[in-house]
Amino acid sequence: MSASKIISHRGACGSAPENTLASMRKAKALGAEWVEFDTMLSADGHVVVIHDETLKRTTGAAGKVADMDLADLQTLDAGSWFDEAFAGEKIPTLIEVIGLLGELGLGAVVEIKPSQGLDEETAAKTVEIVKECWPTSLPTPILSSFSDISLAIAQHHAPELPRALNINKKIEAGINKANTLECVALHCQHPAIDSASARKVLDAEIDLRCFTVNEVERANALFAIGVQGIFSDYPERFL
Ligand code: G3P
Ligand code: MG
Repeated sequence: MSASKIISHRGACGSAPENTLASMRKAKALGAEWVEFDTMLSADGHVVVIHDETLKRTTGAAGKVADMDLADLQTLDAGSWFDEAFAGEKIPTLIEVIGLLGELGLGAVVEIKPSQGLDEETAAKTVEIVKECWPTSLPTPILSSFSDISLAIAQHHAPELPRALNINKKIEAGINKANTLECVALHCQHPAIDSASARKVLDAEIDLRCFTVNEVERANALFAIGVQGIFSDYPERFL
């Protein structure tokens, strides 16, 4: 089964603190069928689900994810910054998120988001866990990354899992890289996409999805030029 047209971003980060278990539950409650989230390594080599390399924005703590052990990361409050109603939400592990996706029946784009210099390790560990823990009841996940090093590692360790290259612009370079890495899709920042650039991607037989799209009108314009999917903070606007 391919990814749904609307992929709920970082869980459902418009309505719940991003990349938390609460955010995955919210995506489901809002009607999403697929979510996207980001994976990073703790200092002791656990894969956690968080977007920024630094902890400040989503936990208020000083320091970096890569410098802290899992046990310490999980003492932090990853919910209050968004709304007091989410106080006590933790930075989840990839294993915890996968378990919840299985319960909820949510498909996912797993974005490998390495801290600086940890492209290989983050990809290897993320792939290992996905291969071991992904519920057979769920559609096959898509592994994505901005890091071509991470995608090459994924290609090596799990050639059978579909990959997507994330890019901000530079569509033609993206198509070439996606071909080299045998990616099935490009995930591109939406302002870089118009009908000509979309056509180039689709002519190369690569799927095209855009992030982060929160306006219905823009989503419809993208679908009209052949874009297959969007990542949105507000899936309910499109469902
Ligand atoms: O995977 C699509 C999108 O999430 C990429 O950007 O910064 O939100 O991880 P970012
Ligand atoms: Mg992401």
